[in-house]
Amino acid sequence: MTANPNTATAERLQKELAAHPRQLLIGGQWKAAQSGKTFATFNPATGQPLGQVAWADAHDVDLAVRAARRAFEDPAWSRISSMDRTKLLLRLADLIERDAQELAVLECLDNGKPAHLARLVEIEGSIKTFRYFAGWPTKFGGETLPVSPRGGLQILNYTTREPLGVCALIVPWNYPMSMAAWKIAPAVAAGCTVVLKPAEQTPLTALRLAALALEAGFPPGVINVVTGMGETGAALVEHPGVDKVAFTGSTEVGKKIVRAASGNLKKVSLELGGKSPQVVFADADIDAAVASIAAGIFFNQGQTCTAGSRLYAHRSCIDRIVEGVAAAGRKLRIGNGLDPQSEFGPLISQEQWDRVNGFVQSGQADGARLVTGGTRPEGFDDGYFFKPTVFTDAGQTMKITREEIFGPVLTALPWSDPEELVAHANDSEFGLSAGIWTQNIRNAHRMAAALKAGTVWINCFNLVDPASPFGGYKQSGWGREHGRQAMELYSEVKSVWVNVS
Ligand code: NAI
Ligand code: MG
Repeated sequence: MTANPNTATAERLQKELAAHPRQLLIGGQWKAAQSGKTFATFNPATGQPLGQVAWADAHDVDLAVRAARRAFEDPAWSRISSMDRTKLLLRLADLIERDAQELAVLECLDNGKPAHLARLVEIEGSIKTFRYFAGWPTKFGGETLPVSPRGGLQILNYTTREPLGVCALIVPWNYPMSMAAWKIAPAVAAGCTVVLKPAEQTPLTALRLAALALEAGFPPGVINVVTGMGETGAALVEHPGVDKVAFTGSTEVGKKIVRAASGNLKKVSLELGGKSPQVVFADADIDAAVASIAAGIFFNQGQTCTAGSRLYAHRSCIDRIVEGVAAAGRKLRIGNGLDPQSEFGPLISQEQWDRVNGFVQSGQADGARLVTGGTRPEGFDDGYFFKPTVFTDAGQTMKITREEIFGPVLTALPWSDPEELVAHANDSEFGLSAGIWTQNIRNAHRMAAALKAGTVWINCFNLVDPASPFGGYKQSGWGREHGRQAMELYSEVKSVWVNVS
């Protein structure tokens, strides 16, 4: 047996965590909460606490927002050259790469996901995100525009891009490190300063990321972190010193944020829930579709906003696909994420386990047929493990077809009429993403145009890249992350009119 390199790292990290409560990062200083309060963060694979984390209240939030404002106005940041911003972002990417294995293990401990998958997707993805946005400061500028003024005036009209200001970044627990990177990278590339609020379930990698940003040389106060519950996030959203909120999480909290942000009309961008359809035509490459549909719902234990959770397969092939996905689910190696053999970890919390279990109960009560899963796996009495689950013969109006389960549960429905297929696939309050499986180029592009979703994947699924915009139609959100669109989210446009007559 070869030694598992994750074990030693995990032991060291756990010792460190148990001994030292994690603190807030405010104005470049690590600080306990003013109240002295802390909360515990847990390992979802065992249900055991990992350590204590500072619990910020409105007072700490106020200090963090003021520190971010001071940093925003300080020439050390406000007059930094675009090339120097590029260098800082590249340096941060290099430091994440240096510590990649440790960050992956930390994510595994706090979130439960397999460490090797955390590394592949989250840590590598974060490095890529910082490197991509490092390229923007030197390329993100305005335009000169051919205006038509009255009265023979000669006008030079040009636009500039200015950083939006102090940004509150509120992120969830499903991809803790990536979600922090997706927001910090474009915000600081655009010249903003930020206060990051990680999810209470998974604060640890965001804190490490902030420590690396200090090491990279970001001036104090450019990146601040306040850990705490939903109330900590709410205090940020209400704070009059915050210019923008960028949020990823539940649609319910997204709506609360929109209401709470109205005080000073802060800018808001939202990346919310999904119930993404996978649409399979009779002519699809079935083996490729099965493998990708299984990964699209089971990866990260289904706790993915773009999870392909509604399968619409043509009547002629639905049984083969459902059987194939169920078989792929049964084959997944469930286990503690520190084990390099594990492919499928626990859900994030008991709360989430109960939620997913509740959906499975409702699916059965509504008459859908449970093909596989639906329970805790045998031999996993501790932690929040839930088996890969597949329902078929589901109806369009069932809860398991309409609501975001955020767990490893696929709901399959057959189709035969293409018009009805489009209507059903679009019959959702969400519009985050969609998958299309066909070898027919006409079907592929007609469907891509017809589906109301921010991302459409044809003969692939869940590919994400910082160069390509990401976000949702309908109640899946406001705005787009990644790409030029993300730079626009964190900046203002100024139009300048110069009379040159
Ligand atoms: P949540 O939306 O409550 O949490 C996300 C973040 O928002 C956390 O940092 C939380 O502390 C913060 N927050 C909570 N209330 C807030 C408020 N009033 N103001 C400002 N910030 C606030 O998500 P939760 O409760 O952890 O998960 C519940 C469900 O939400 C999941 O089952 C899933 O369906 C959905 N969800 C969707 C995500 C996505 O990526 N689309 C991510 C996480 C959850
Ligand atoms: Mg945790």
